[in-house]
Amino acid sequence: MNRYNLEKRFLHGGDYNPDQWLQYPDILKEDIELMKLANTNTFSLGIFAWSTLEPEEGIFNFQWLDNIMDSIYQMGGNVILATPSGARPSWMAEKYEEVLRTNEKNEKSIFGGRHNHCFTSPKYREKVAIINEKLAERYANHPALLMWHVSNEYSGECHCDYCKNAFREWLINKYQSLEKLNHAWWGPFWSHSITSWKQINPPSPLGETAVHGLNLDWRRFVTDQTIDFYKHEIKAIRKYSPNVPITTNFMSDTYDLIPFQSLNYAEFSKHVDIVSWDCYPAWHNDWESTADLASKVGFINDQFRSLKQQPFLIMESTPSAVNWHDVNKSKRPGMHLLSSMQLIAHGSDSNLYFQWRKSRGSSEKFHGAVVDHDRSSENRVFKDVQLVGAVLEKIKAVKGTDKKSRVAILYDWENNWALNDAQGFSQKTKRYPQTLQEHYRVFWDLDISVDVITIDEKLDNYDLVIAPMLYLISETTINKFVKYVKRGGYLVSTYLTGLVDETDLAYLGGWPSQLVELFGIELQETDIYYPKQINGIEENNRSYQTKDYLSIVNPLNAKTLAKYTDDFYRGKSAVTVNNFGKGKAYFVGARTNYDYLFDFYQSIIGELDLAPKFIKVGNKNVSIQTRGDSKQRHYFILNFSEQKQAIKIDEKKKNLLTDKFVGPEIDLPPYGVMILSD
Ligand code: GAL
Repeated sequence: MNRYNLEKRFLHGGDYNPDQWLQYPDILKEDIELMKLANTNTFSLGIFAWSTLEPEEGIFNFQWLDNIMDSIYQMGGNVILATPSGARPSWMAEKYEEVLRTNEKNEKSIFGGRHNHCFTSPKYREKVAIINEKLAERYANHPALLMWHVSNEYSGECHCDYCKNAFREWLINKYQSLEKLNHAWWGPFWSHSITSWKQINPPSPLGETAVHGLNLDWRRFVTDQTIDFYKHEIKAIRKYSPNVPITTNFMSDTYDLIPFQSLNYAEFSKHVDIVSWDCYPAWHNDWESTADLASKVGFINDQFRSLKQQPFLIMESTPSAVNWHDVNKSKRPGMHLLSSMQLIAHGSDSNLYFQWRKSRGSSEKFHGAVVDHDRSSENRVFKDVQLVGAVLEKIKAVKGTDKKSRVAILYDWENNWALNDAQGFSQKTKRYPQTLQEHYRVFWDLDISVDVITIDEKLDNYDLVIAPMLYLISETTINKFVKYVKRGGYLVSTYLTGLVDETDLAYLGGWPSQLVELFGIELQETDIYYPKQINGIEENNRSYQTKDYLSIVNPLNAKTLAKYTDDFYRGKSAVTVNNFGKGKAYFVGARTNYDYLFDFYQSIIGELDLAPKFIKVGNKNVSIQTRGDSKQRHYFILNFSEQKQAIKIDEKKKNLLTDKFVGPEIDLPPYGVMILSD
């Protein structure tokens, strides 16, 4: 039985820590009552509960968890049951120091905090296997169990001897010989050739940081070792509950909402059944408009959806404020519904919160929660949550439906690592993930659905693939691009593309010849500007500013679209297009502002007929996202502004919240939400 697939409701609820409240039976009772009142149905249990589950080595206590799981089941709810490896009991650290992490300066952590364990330690793996097996055996057939939540936000790295040896093994497996490794790492540079595997250490400020091949391999190893640890964690779970889906919660990088930097989720996502992630935008901040931020939220959610090309889960979000932003502002009236519906609009099948109830002590006692210290169901946050629950119930036909995109933006973790490592260019303006967000923005403004894909994805599913700044590019990827365009695909590439191969060694003899052929250009040189300097380009008698990176392009077969207006390369090509096979390869040689990107993509959008037909008059403050298939589509119309907004659609559609037909003119109040169906 797979209860997850049978569950027709959106998952609404969140992280619940009854283990913090075992001395307060009235609170535990109250929780169940409030869960029903809040229109919530799903709770993640046990995430950091190891010291309650195993208070002393080998002494286990599951009674409290039995009781809570039974109560949640009896009230009609689901449990997402966690393995507790994200934090460990103090007895374990005291007895087995090796479970703690060693940093890059070879300093061993002392007990405290969380997420600070060694992924390789045999003792930690042994202890994790025992507790996971106990949990799996006991709860595999519990009727409330919906899904497994393995650990919590895996991250970080360890430099202990176990990890160093594992890294060396990983390298031996990869390179087989020191000659090959020394070539890939460009050994003779600064006399860094290696004559024995034992000489290899992870990158460290006390030792090696300048060998880019080493840095790249270390990051790859850290991802692989984390996945290996995860695979170790799920062995018992798979054994006892082969049909219950497994996930682990992923993250983004804080305010910017750019993809998480230190683990390659393209790889990790292959090993989870469902992608889930924790989404914490800083709504109402003082440095960007609500629509600016909403577009970034759209980008990152589209990325998590695209990782497995299926609906994903929001495992954590906040119903009000967090406690770890510089300023922790609460959501204004209307924002909780709007921001929750945006997550659903981009393909989430849940909105789960951190946290159900505010803890009473320690660092998260002022982090937003459904239930505040006042224990009230009457306050604004509780009512906001109730409303989201009621709306999710109304729109449950949307659950499980897909999102279809004809446009893809390609993000590559390895490229990001290598580009950040590259000494040269301009350190502060590389901004690879932010550049992708800028390209995405044009499509978000025009309500054109975008997938944010990885290098492994099939390109033929898309009419347009946008792959900016692929500084590190393998021959396999180049071949993939060539085939894609030959068959009729449109490809957009930019400055800082195609400079190094997958070992981070520079391509010799100029740009790889296949890229020259594909784009029909020669890359002459790339000029780097200081942040305040600008040049210009001109296209169709319109001028635009360019900045940061300015490649000078010599067209061979390509047609010039835009030329520079200034500097020693005035009049030379900046943007080109090449008809290649049945498709087109565009090269945007200069970094521009939004206005150019908007105009540049207009002609492509027109040629490929990408704009949604049902929108007659759009509005850049209103995001329209569509879920569903040709049989039935659901339209999320979301006003990300503090003013009233209007749009126009082609015909009347059913408002799922009121069951009345609306349109073609649609007015939305500030932060207004409308969800329509064909
Ligand atoms: C997440 C974490 C949660 C909680 C939350 C606070 O990163 O997984 O346990 O700390 O942040 O926003």
